[in-house]
Amino acid sequence: MHDQADQPASPPTDNPHTWQARYWNSAATAPWVSLQTRLDELLAPLTRVALDRAAPGPGEQVLDVGCGCGDTTLALAHRVSASGRVEGVDISAQMLARARERVAAGDFPQVGLTLADASSHAFEPAVFDLIFSRVGVMFFGDPVAAFANLRRALRPSGRLVFVCCRTAAENGYITAAVRAALPLLPAGAVPVPGPDQPGMFSFADPARVRRILEGAGFSEVELTAHDEPMRLAGPGGAADAADFSIQFGPLTRVLDEVAPALRSEILAAITETYRQLEGPEGVVLPGAFWIVAARP
Ligand SMILES: C[S@@+](CC[C@H](N)C(=O)[O-])C[C@H]1O[C@@H](n2cnc3c(N)ncnc32)[C@H](O)[C@@H]1O
Repeated sequence: MHDQADQPASPPTDNPHTWQARYWNSAATAPWVSLQTRLDELLAPLTRVALDRAAPGPGEQVLDVGCGCGDTTLALAHRVSASGRVEGVDISAQMLARARERVAAGDFPQVGLTLADASSHAFEPAVFDLIFSRVGVMFFGDPVAAFANLRRALRPSGRLVFVCCRTAAENGYITAAVRAALPLLPAGAVPVPGPDQPGMFSFADPARVRRILEGAGFSEVELTAHDEPMRLAGPGGAADAADFSIQFGPLTRVLDEVAPALRSEILAAITETYRQLEGPEGVVLPGAFWIVAARP
């Protein structure tokens, strides 16, 4: 069993499909757009590892699932070059709008972006050499059906490679803030999704990931644990890191609803936690991921 701090990144939902669409288009996830540059920097080392594992090559056709603001879509586009194609798909209009701006600002004729639910979108069958995702596939209401849908879009010779989080307990870069806030909040204030519900940590259990992918028809499923120290802020940046981390996950919603004095108290508690955890490189906390690969 996990305690509340172990499962903070996404709230429970009775109708995952519509709930997810609403959530990723809401004010709660707007910081994914406003803080896009900083998030991309935070995730950059992990991105390199995942892209190296996926090894997109010139001329390949790639689908980037849950592409968000397009960081990995653009990185994939560089790797497939002008002779390839990258299609980014996301359910969030606000994040896709940012991705569109970034594509338009560069020279990326090989990139297409689609606003759609990847779990049910009618992709052209058997066209992609690679389906890739950076933490964008843990939110499907029916993951087996969603991955079966994605598998149909892969060529028989293709591959699936994605990054997802391991347990909340191992991902202090997300959960330390929640742990610091919890003692100051009423019991149950931070929603905890069940183990099979969509959320940031819903793919933590490797057996579940295998069950989902094999249930969707994938084979040769391989999970490689990857630990990545996540730099929330530089030296002396505890307050800045606290301010940054409350913009994501359920704390955002909780803090929007509490009295200003309590909000300040919680922010101070998170800052103090980060101050204690700070090292010579700044606020650098553990990140724990699976790099998952499979064949259709
Ligand atoms: C944690 S964010 C990651 C975004 C991006 N991959 C990145 O690394 O910056 C998860 C993304 O998955 C998208 N998403 C969630 N459910 C989805 C679905 N059913 N279909 C398409 N995108 C989805 C969200 O809108 C969001 O952009």
